[in-house]
Amino acid sequence: MIRSIHVHGSPVLRQQADEVPRDHADLPQLLADMYETMYASGGIGLAAPQVGVPLRLFVVDLSPYADEEPALLDMKKVFINPEIYDESDEEVLMNEGCLSIPGLTEDVYRPEKIRLRWLDENFEPHDAEFDGHASRVIQHEYDHLVGKIYTDHLSMLRRTLLRGRLSAIARGDYTAKYKTKQK
Ligand code: NI
Repeated sequence: MIRSIHVHGSPVLRQQADEVPRDHADLPQLLADMYETMYASGGIGLAAPQVGVPLRLFVVDLSPYADEEPALLDMKKVFINPEIYDESDEEVLMNEGCLSIPGLTEDVYRPEKIRLRWLDENFEPHDAEFDGHASRVIQHEYDHLVGKIYTDHLSMLRRTLLRGRLSAIARGDYTAKYKTKQK
């Protein structure tokens, strides 16, 4: 089932998400819905808080980047209770957008590489390093689990310039080609 995507201004996007309990009965349905919602809205990553569920989990499918990075063809993964525990000092600039901030993209600096631990959909543990688009998307989705959005990483000046635009989105003044919710 396609769920509505919560848009900037919705309190759930500013909340600290809770750990996913191992006995979460509706997890398979939630994951299926998140993939369906992500594909229907043209996204490459989606975090549970974006569909109004404050749990530490996100899904990604980076196959659209396979032209640039062939290894990403199979990069369809579920990240449950992830923990980024190391990151490179070197930062890179990449353009980001977010389904929860319709109509806006901005260049954002983030660490080039990260290491993280997480559980997959069967609660099997994993530990790996990511770079390139995978590192970028994982860091972006991870932020959603701690109540952050990508504009938080912009310079003070840039954030000041965007204030009006973000307030307008929070008031419902935006267009999106997918189902959205303000709270
Ligand atoms: Ni996002």
